[in-house]
Amino acid sequence: MSADSAAELDALRAAGAVVAEALRHMRRAVRPGVTTGELDAIAAGVLRRAGARSAPQLDYGFPGTTCISVNDEAVHGVPGPRRLRDGDLVKLDVTVELDGFYADACESVVVGRGRKSAHRLVATARAALRQAIAAATTGAPLNAIGGAIERTVTARGYSVCTELSGHGIGRRIHEPPTVLSYYDPALAQPLTDGLVLAVEPIIAAGDGAVAEAGDGWTYRTVDGSLAAHAEHTLVVRDGRPLVLTA
Ligand code: CO
Repeated sequence: MSADSAAELDALRAAGAVVAEALRHMRRAVRPGVTTGELDAIAAGVLRRAGARSAPQLDYGFPGTTCISVNDEAVHGVPGPRRLRDGDLVKLDVTVELDGFYADACESVVVGRGRKSAHRLVATARAALRQAIAAATTGAPLNAIGGAIERTVTARGYSVCTELSGHGIGRRIHEPPTVLSYYDPALAQPLTDGLVLAVEPIIAAGDGAVAEAGDGWTYRTVDGSLAAHAEHTLVVRDGRPLVLTA
């Protein structure tokens, strides 16, 4: 959507604040021994208290409040009895609907101390997101976002999971345009003021190919390599975008 009124911006900010709050509580609870189902229940409590609903549940019938993906699972992991172990790389992906408005964000967290390689991958996903946000300015071409992500990720020796992309958002979880995380010369249309986007580098230590894991939801890397994901929902403006989920 394009957020063109103060009322729409306020509603989006409110949805974004619920996402940030859920992520804050989940992140604090990440430790060896906690199950992904327990983390999901924490988010469910935050949403309930805020009067918000799980967007993947609402729009797609997802069997959880949030998507929680571990290690080689890149996205759309189903929360459940799996216990996190020291060194796991867990992705907490929260999308909510509040009063008809949607916001979406994801954080990658290393459980316990973890390996240097896992921390480096997470830092790269975050750096790619920062660069992508900086590129999302009114009048810039849409493909500047993907270009910024691809450059940041490949410079550090990692791969973008090119089959997975960001998206427009606002009145639904997934709206046009598709926001690729790599440079496509065809996508040169200028970003317009007020456009609401979920920007989300999903990256892997290996070649970045992913496949559905057989449960109908989870995507994991084909080569079994670690994946990391960082995401914010933002509003395109002149200069720095407004990040709704920070
Ligand atoms: Co998203």
